[in-house]
Amino acid sequence: MNRPVIIVHGGAWDIPDEFVDAHIKGCERAVLAGWDILKNGGSALDAVEEAIKVMEDDPTFDAGIGSFLNEEGFVELDALIMDGASLNAGAVAGVRRIKNPISLARKVLELTSHILLIGEGAEKFAKKIGFTLIDPKDLIIERELKRWLMIKEKKLKPQDFFSGRETVGAVALDVNGNIAAGVSTGGIPFKMPGRVGDTPIIGAGAYADNSYGGVAATGYGEAIMRVLLSKTVIDYLSRGFSVSEAAKKALELMYRKTGGRGGIIVIDKNGNIGYYHTTTRMAFAYVINGRLRSGIKVT
Ligand code: GLY
Repeated sequence: MNRPVIIVHGGAWDIPDEFVDAHIKGCERAVLAGWDILKNGGSALDAVEEAIKVMEDDPTFDAGIGSFLNEEGFVELDALIMDGASLNAGAVAGVRRIKNPISLARKVLELTSHILLIGEGAEKFAKKIGFTLIDPKDLIIERELKRWLMIKEKKLKPQDFFSGRETVGAVALDVNGNIAAGVSTGGIPFKMPGRVGDTPIIGAGAYADNSYGGVAATGYGEAIMRVLLSKTVIDYLSRGFSVSEAAKKALELMYRKTGGRGGIIVIDKNGNIGYYHTTTRMAFAYVINGRLRSGIKVT
């Protein structure tokens, strides 16, 4: 029997002081929801899905309700969940009418032979299996509408946010030694309609393999995809590097090759927890030996 552990992140970026508390509390609520499942013998997949749902429902984060708006003023959501036991994964991209895209991604994993469903096709699948399709306006909040208007009126630049931001992620190891990883995001502000970043791309946004560990990434998707950041961390683990070394080396590689910054959370097959970021701050929380730890890591 394994000692279960779980870690979540609430994004890696220049988190302003006034938002720090909401980020820490949001990460704590999420990790405790996942921990409740793990401590009762539940699966890593269930724990990751539940933790991410909590953050999707929290407008603090760029995932689910409260996400950034695209050029047309809509929220388009991406999510991925991966099972380290089977290397099976489920993902959705560009969905506008799904409250919890991580749960739809889980259904793609469980009910289809595919890995990634996009836009209208993903929403048709959701409807077919009984998900409620929400009004796209239900994902939009005042804060983001104001930001969108500022960008549209050229008082703010979308690239001011590109160094990182608030994609959310979770990685868990359950009592049976199974590892799962997942991520969910609204992407970057004022993105082109149809733009998809790293989050739903297996090996970029997240990766899990029971033989080595699980990883969830955050940061600028166009950089993360170029180096398949999450799989790169796994490759370093497979070469014998520790969780902290693997996360650091992968993020340094990404910065060297692309100039992109981001953050990583990682659990290896022995339940060691690591995190690292090359942005100014990263919000995180984890439970190890039944004890909650949380904070905003600052470089
Ligand atoms: N990391 C989220 C995105 O770039 O879409």
